[in-house]
Amino acid sequence: MSGLRVQGVSKSFGTLDVLRDLELAVEPGEFAAVIGPSGSGKSTLFNLVSGLDRPTSGQVLVEGEPAGVASGKVAYMPQKDLLFPWRTVLDNTALGLEAQGVRKKEARARAGALFADFGLDGFQRAYPSELSGGMRQRAALLRTVVLERPVLLLDEPFGALDSLTRTEMQLWLAGMWQRHRWTVVLVTHDIREAVLLADTVHVLSPRPATVVDRVEVPLPHGERDFTAPEFAAVERRVLEALRGTTAVTAP
Ligand SMILES: Nc1ncnc2c1ncn2[C@@H]1O[C@H](COP(=O)(O)OP(=O)(O)OP(=O)(O)O)[C@@H](O)[C@H]1O
Ligand SMILES: [Mg+2]
Repeated sequence: MSGLRVQGVSKSFGTLDVLRDLELAVEPGEFAAVIGPSGSGKSTLFNLVSGLDRPTSGQVLVEGEPAGVASGKVAYMPQKDLLFPWRTVLDNTALGLEAQGVRKKEARARAGALFADFGLDGFQRAYPSELSGGMRQRAALLRTVVLERPVLLLDEPFGALDSLTRTEMQLWLAGMWQRHRWTVVLVTHDIREAVLLADTVHVLSPRPATVVDRVEVPLPHGERDFTAPEFAAVERRVLEALRGTTAVTAP
């Protein structure tokens, strides 16, 4: 079995129940979005999938193996993925490979090969402070993608960006995913972002989080137009699922 399976997972921190009986299945090459209220347990879920933490009960399987032993199969871009200010952009993007034992020269070569694709060409020797916010996020994403692991976890990758840059980055990620077909799980608060990018949007309840709805996005990738009525209809369904569990305002 490949892809990702989260089966009946519950997670508590002491008396705080964060996840309850959570089920999630992501097929290889699928783009899944997870949307839910703040504090519902989305980052906690990623910590379980990446093997950084263990469920209280239930199991997480990555490519058929328990997450704890399959951590080499998951590339995780945490919610606050910081670039080291004293390392050049190239050395920042090579960091993940170096951390897994790849020699510096090869790590740099592999990361460097992706610079053009990530819109970072010419900035190899720059320092993070010389990049725009969108470029910094692309560099952090490059550092994750270059690991070439079967499952990619992105926790609010565009959360800190202004809305114009954010839209630009969403379209860019949509194009990159279409070319590479990574298996992606994207955590977001942004309904439009989820519907623009995902095959399936998994809607979480507030804590203790469980999946309250799974919304398929029946729109062709690469031609999604957030001004189209079909797009708005999917957004509405996600919004209604969220509203069923908590008070949210319309986008
Ligand atoms: N290591 C921990 N120890 C104790 N409590 C924790 C720990 N990690 C997370 N929590 C608690 O679990 C709950 C869920 O946190 P989590 O970070 O997963 O939420 P989230 O859905 O990612 O929120 P946001 O959308 O704001 O990023 C919070 O109440 C948080 O305080
Ligand atoms: Mg979070």
